Amino acid sequence: TRRYSISLLPGDGIGPEVISVAKNVLKLAGSLEGIEFRFQEMPMGGSALDLVGVPLPDETLSAAKQSDAVLLGAIGGYKWDNNLKHLKPETGLLQLREGLKVFANLRPATVLPQLVDSSTLKKEVAEGVDLMVVRELTGGIYFGKPRGFGTNENGDEIGFNTEVYAAYEVDRIARIAFETARKRSGKLCSVDKANVLEASMFWRKRVIEIASEYPDVELSHMYVDNAAMQLVRNPKQFDTIVTNNIFGDILSDEASMITGSIGMLPSASLGESGPGLFEPIHGSAPDIAGQDKANPLATILSAAMLLKYGLGEENAAKRIENAVLHTLNKGFRTGDIYSAGNKLVGCKEIGEEVLKSVETPVPAA
Ligand code: NAD
Ligand code: IPM
Ligand code: MN
Repeated sequence: TRRYSISLLPGDGIGPEVISVAKNVLKLAGSLEGIEFRFQEMPMGGSALDLVGVPLPDETLSAAKQSDAVLLGAIGGYKWDNNLKHLKPETGLLQLREGLKVFANLRPATVLPQLVDSSTLKKEVAEGVDLMVVRELTGGIYFGKPRGFGTNENGDEIGFNTEVYAAYEVDRIARIAFETARKRSGKLCSVDKANVLEASMFWRKRVIEIASEYPDVELSHMYVDNAAMQLVRNPKQFDTIVTNNIFGDILSDEASMITGSIGMLPSASLGESGPGLFEPIHGSAPDIAGQDKANPLATILSAAMLLKYGLGEENAAKRIENAVLHTLNKGFRTGDIYSAGNKLVGCKEIGEEVLKSVETPVPAA
């Protein structure tokens, strides 16, 4: 048996609901492939604030660093929305990403044939979409200095942030993106705002420079406003997209809706070395928390990414991916992806169905 230790960070809102389901799926898929997991559950986000007064306790970060991979649910909620910046759940998540040095965030958006009817886009626009957003995750305006609150020369109160990228930050995310595109269809689109922002002009210059290392990859550039429009006009034109922290945040939420729901999109955050961080792209969904309505598939698929990208356990990952497809083939749907003729179920029940399908893997229809 191969043994791995996994840090589980359920977080807030629907986080604990989707993590409990994904943990069982991960455990079963692993055991069928000769893998044994040791799970360590740690507080994070609002629940950590309530428990010990900080959004990312030292114990949580050090446990995460010592584990083989980290699976996170989601953080945040109304209760902590007016906290000071350093006492916000979201600040804890940024500290975790920074602490694990996971600068490369892979967010795949795939329209599954089973869910074409769940997309808000027309069938012919949505079907066959298969794209990957490579989002820079530990730089840009999320981390740039100076930042803060203050007063300007007129005495007006202000809030300010700085979009800044160093060459090494652009170069390393560009390389990950070129490698990703090379393994996919060989097309990379870099999204920026180089017509206005110096940080984007610099981003584009470095991406072009790194492109010389990847002559086999076809590189294009697009302004982010156009990209937002093109994503709903003709998303199939995209294969791999590379972009900065904030544009990647926004465009991946937009891309998720093409696939039917934000409840479907997983992510993998990777650094040069050390454990990866795996989390759905959605948040804690306070509007449906505690009602057994959440779609756990994004977290289950994040567990599959954990196996594939974090541990190199491709067979176990495939088992989970197939189980998700099989569950959808059987017609099980949570509310966010429901369409007529299917069976509306809750988080727990769709999780049970995925578990059954992990045991009896059936290839995709
Ligand atoms: P959200 O993603 O939590 O929810 C947006 C909408 O999508 C809501 O209507 C929600 O019900 C729905 N939704 C999200 N995930 C779903 C799922 N798995 N199944 C079914 N429906 C789902 O975004 P928000 O409402 O803008 O933010 C809520 C809180 O989550 C905020 O505190 C925010 O800061 C936080 N947040 C955390 C993360 C994270 O932990 N990585 C990501 C985004 C937002
Ligand atoms: C995400 C979230 C986070 C982000 C927030 C909660 C810090 O929106 O993971 O997409 O902006 O990165
Ligand atoms: Mn987001």
